[in-house]
Amino acid sequence: MRAIQFVTTRLSSCLRPTLRYEFVSSSSPRLFSNPRRLLCAAAATKSDGGRSGSIVAPLVANEEEEEVQKIDVNPPKGTRDFAPEDMRLRNWLFNHFKEVSRLFGYEEVDYPVLETEALFIRKAGEEIRDQLYCFEDRGKRRVALRPELTPSLARLVIQKGKSVSLPLKWFAIGQCWRYERMTRGRRREHYQWNMDIIGVPHVTAEAELISSIVTFFKRVGITASDVGFKISSRKVLQEMLSKYGVPETLFGRVCIIIDKIEKIPIDEIKKELGSTGISEDAIEQLLQVLSVKSLDDLEDVLGGAGEAIADLKQLFSLAETFGYSEWIQFDASVVRGLSYYTGIVFEGFDRKGNLRAICGGGRYDRLLPTYGGDDIPACGFGFGDAVIVELLKEKNLLPELGQDVENIVCALEKDLQGAAATVATALRSKGQTVDLVLESKPLKWVFKRAARINARRLILVGKTEWEDGSVSVKVLSSGEQSQVKLSDLE
Ligand code: HAM
Repeated sequence: MRAIQFVTTRLSSCLRPTLRYEFVSSSSPRLFSNPRRLLCAAAATKSDGGRSGSIVAPLVANEEEEEVQKIDVNPPKGTRDFAPEDMRLRNWLFNHFKEVSRLFGYEEVDYPVLETEALFIRKAGEEIRDQLYCFEDRGKRRVALRPELTPSLARLVIQKGKSVSLPLKWFAIGQCWRYERMTRGRRREHYQWNMDIIGVPHVTAEAELISSIVTFFKRVGITASDVGFKISSRKVLQEMLSKYGVPETLFGRVCIIIDKIEKIPIDEIKKELGSTGISEDAIEQLLQVLSVKSLDDLEDVLGGAGEAIADLKQLFSLAETFGYSEWIQFDASVVRGLSYYTGIVFEGFDRKGNLRAICGGGRYDRLLPTYGGDDIPACGFGFGDAVIVELLKEKNLLPELGQDVENIVCALEKDLQGAAATVATALRSKGQTVDLVLESKPLKWVFKRAARINARRLILVGKTEWEDGSVSVKVLSSGEQSQVKLSDLE
């Protein structure tokens, strides 16, 4: 049997490591020309317990064996590195997501990025299924990188069962993977902020969710003239379909076909709808209702009695009480591309029409039962990190975020390095952030570094002051300098 032998930690003490992974047989003795390698490998096998087929200790190649393998320094297509400057922006954005969720009283949750593939396989022919990153793991289980968070949420709610009291208000920020065609703001990996309410069947839940997104937009400087929400209800389609005797089982599939209206020619849409068995007459009526842009017109088509109209009217009235009426508009063409939505659906769009949907969500009352869970109503939204950054860039609303360290501490002589470390430790224990200069550097270098990391104070540890238990503190904005006893340093 062959096993991959990794080489890092335990062996790093054996040699200055040129690390690499090797395939070796764990059932036959390993032959190494270099006795030091033999020693290291023996130690590794021992600590591994000699299990076959498992990942065991690393091997280290000696210098003659060193191979240079040039790598592509770019991350895989559609994925991103987050260098410190990107990470600062990401943290800024995620902090807003978190802060808004906290303002609304939601609890944070998270799930594994890797889930069983079956969790994401639904029959309706959703695009998301063709975009799955899926594979068989070493235990021959079919797994997938999550393309969204909602199925994991449903899984966890079912797992928790009666141990949680409803309603649940949960939020999550997680990386999702979709093998997408790359366009502006659409990537193969993105982070999604989700807020979900489990256990509330009323439109009050959707109304609050939209209010939280509006709160986020306002915080980052986006106004109702920049973005809006298109709102509809899948019950509109449901009522139309039942009028034409179309079985309920076709509902999800019809929604998925209709969601493609702006992406493929209308004749294709009609053909696909026809292939489900819906009559031509019904298809024409369906397509007509999708062009309706006001609730009054919708009422004329559907009559005033149905749930679709009642829900939508209530949502628009709640929007007034929450104070975001100017942000929302009815648009029957919004259906959303996931088959599990059952009621109100909404999406955030940029009014200039340059970008794809900023966020989207809706009610998915039937998702938990389709996984074998109780019939618990649910709704929520997903908000990606990519489109919003494009919009903020366009509007010049991205903040300038530099590194932010309060103090830079530097020893003026080599043998005061230890004293500088003591000063840094004392400050850090008081909650101050400190960049400690770890080598002997000229003062010019230290000042440059202080400016680059936006330090507010420069703390110099000099011989005479230190003998007196003091350090020299310079406030960099004013140039004001003073000697401060270590015990008084705040
Ligand atoms: P979704 O509409 O597929 O819904 O995605 C929600 C948001 O995630 C999109 O509006 C967009 O901001 C972002 N997004 C999706 N795909 C990509 C991509 N390839 N690149 C960049 N951003 C992307 C859902 O995923 C639902 N699970 C949302 C939900 C939560 N519904 C109820 N609860």
